[in-house]
Amino acid sequence: MKTLDHVDVSAKRVFLRVDFNVPLDKKDGTVADDTRIRAILPSLRKVLDGGGKAVLASHLGRPKGQVVPEMSLAPVARHLSGILGMDVPLAPDCVGGAVRKMVDELEPGRVLLLENLRFHGGETKNNPEFSRQLAELTDVYVNDAFAVSHRAHASVHGITEYVRECAAGYQLAKEIETFRQAMENPQRPLAVVIGGAKVSTKIGVLENLIPKVDLLVIGGAMANTFLKAQGKSVGASLVEDEFVETAKVLLAQARERGVRVILPVDATAAPSLDAGDRARQVPVDQVPPDLAIFDVGEETSALIRQALEPCATVVWNGPLGAFETPPFERATYDLARFLAASQAFTVVGGGDSAAAVAKAGVTDKVGYVSTGGGAFLEMLEGKVLPGIQALQKCSERA
Ligand code: 3PG
Repeated sequence: MKTLDHVDVSAKRVFLRVDFNVPLDKKDGTVADDTRIRAILPSLRKVLDGGGKAVLASHLGRPKGQVVPEMSLAPVARHLSGILGMDVPLAPDCVGGAVRKMVDELEPGRVLLLENLRFHGGETKNNPEFSRQLAELTDVYVNDAFAVSHRAHASVHGITEYVRECAAGYQLAKEIETFRQAMENPQRPLAVVIGGAKVSTKIGVLENLIPKVDLLVIGGAMANTFLKAQGKSVGASLVEDEFVETAKVLLAQARERGVRVILPVDATAAPSLDAGDRARQVPVDQVPPDLAIFDVGEETSALIRQALEPCATVVWNGPLGAFETPPFERATYDLARFLAASQAFTVVGGGDSAAAVAKAGVTDKVGYVSTGGGAFLEMLEGKVLPGIQALQKCSERA
């Protein structure tokens, strides 16, 4: 696929679709985590250094086609101005005559941030007229928003029908390349660690992974459903009863394929999530009826480390426990630290896992942390992301 390296941006209006859907501080509304902003800086610098005019477009939150002042991109414009050391004005809207004028008057080497795309219902509806209006602002369209490329929205999908030239930004290209390296052409053994609360959201992922991996580690509350499928009583733990049969089928598939599956053998259990002071280690076949599992246990953590040790590639999605509530963060942080010290090619994806790696303080040491949440999950499901597909088609056409 064509990337920014293959595009002459000089004096051109470069529409950079980025994902500035960043958390804002609840008290003062400033940017609380700028990972996604920093992720697009290489693309932005390339445009500015090449004498292009950078028109940045993003969504923030889910305002559902309404103007919601708390979801304005104003704090992001201020934050980006600080990083670049140059004024980044915020347009009052993302389409329309006034915006068009601002874009046309933009000097080469300068940046304009458009207001939240989702203030218009046409964005999430992939409305052709809205897509065309966005396309009017651009000579070159660049998608550098991997994290929203699973959405067939106007600025990610529809717009590619109306632009003359398009290319992938560096962050998007890196995400695609890293994922391919890990999942399509991996150094083996390949291990995938899947956690999170609900197995129902991960069935597609597991079905897609079983034929590909050598080792599958299942943790988080979703493991409880598998434990029940194995006939273990898991006390008062969260179980999705309607998926117990599916869990049995998945385990049988893994067995047939010779995939080693690691499920918890012990757990950190407590009467409730807010009763961490009464947490204790229990074997998974002896969870008392009044206790629920909130983290995998110490023996399981050791088992996971031992199994991952010889793996050349490790992909991780979903926390192993309720890591936001002490003391149930232990196994998740333990895994994050283990991966940070590992020689394996390591890819972490999904909002919670990325947050856990950050909280454990090892983001810089882990091989690759994806900026994608839902997008990363859909890649793990083996889906072709509509934004990437549309970009591919457009870059071949141009
Ligand atoms: C994300 O944070 O995962 C992306 O920005 C997509 O956001 P959405 O789930 O609201 O479409």
